[in-house]
Amino acid sequence: MDTGLKTHVLPAGAAATATAAGVLAEGGLVAFPTETVYGLGADAGNAAAIARLYQAKGRPAFNPLIAHVADLGAARRIALFDGQALRLAEAFWPGPLTLVLPKALSCPVAELATAGLDTVAIRIPAHKVARDIIKAFGGAVVAPSANLSGHVSPTTAEHVNVDLAGRIDMIVDGGPVEVGVESTIVGCFSDPVLLRPGGLPRAEIERVLGHPLQSPPPDAESDAQPIAPGMLASHYAPRTPVRLNASDVHVGEALLSFGPVKVVRRECASVEMNLSERGDLAEAAANLFGYLRTLDTRNADAIAVMPIPEDGLGEAINDRLRRAAVGR
Ligand code: TXA
Ligand code: MG
Repeated sequence: MDTGLKTHVLPAGAAATATAAGVLAEGGLVAFPTETVYGLGADAGNAAAIARLYQAKGRPAFNPLIAHVADLGAARRIALFDGQALRLAEAFWPGPLTLVLPKALSCPVAELATAGLDTVAIRIPAHKVARDIIKAFGGAVVAPSANLSGHVSPTTAEHVNVDLAGRIDMIVDGGPVEVGVESTIVGCFSDPVLLRPGGLPRAEIERVLGHPLQSPPPDAESDAQPIAPGMLASHYAPRTPVRLNASDVHVGEALLSFGPVKVVRRECASVEMNLSERGDLAEAAANLFGYLRTLDTRNADAIAVMPIPEDGLGEAINDRLRRAAVGR
């Protein structure tokens, strides 16, 4: 659906920041870079703006949003921090970590953004452009990834434009993002739970906590009752089928490789992209969504994906790949 709305694309800078803050204040929708992926921002206190945001993304309204704030003071007006939550916030904010916390009494985030839950997801992004816009706007900004629901997250302004031109007011182009996968989400309940692996590796969080993160209950992944509906089984799917842990290539398949390529019949691949030739997981995370988007345009029968180690950022990469493989 193209609504006929004109989507303005501005290069990041003082003018774009001021314009973006004004558009947000009027209930508009602004896409901007964060260090993880591009987000689609709306005023967290404006239910009408948030309704437009769900509509622009084609996102089910039961999928709650992350409130992005500029500092810990703002975060503490939104949610209740216990000792563990504070430790995590102090260790990793600003950065690619989202905390799910009990709402504060007069939480300014609209009910629609939290999907009626009594918890709220918060993060302080590390990207200068994101922080400048939030500061200039002067309040919390809810921002899901700036893609159509079900598509892979955008890591460039052009990805945002492809999905959302004509549906949102503005895109601030700050170049490609650094991390490339979404933030790690930790539910700060009595025992902190890893709700979504992401740009901050589990081991770093566990080092600060001094104990392992819990896993979500087994039914958290069910589409009916998502705990972190980013965990909907098929959230990150390209149109082309994805075949995981490929040790060979079938005729007509695209190959998504990693490190030194050790697959049988590599020459059968219609196209190959290597996430990181030197086997670097941070580089692979940064390339992941862009490469999936590119391979998805090549009319391959499937995207064959080489195995990727599960350590560090590999946990988030494999999580997104498994969801991509479920299809839509
Ligand atoms: O890196 C990121 O986190 C990016 C950038 C833009 O900040 N944002 C992002 O937002 O990935 P989104 O909406 O695509 O994913 C947010 C996830 C969803 O899976 C949602 O279900 C979960 O956070 N979430 C939000 N509020 C929650 C809550 N109260 N309890 C559990 N999960 C929650
Ligand atoms: Mg998303």
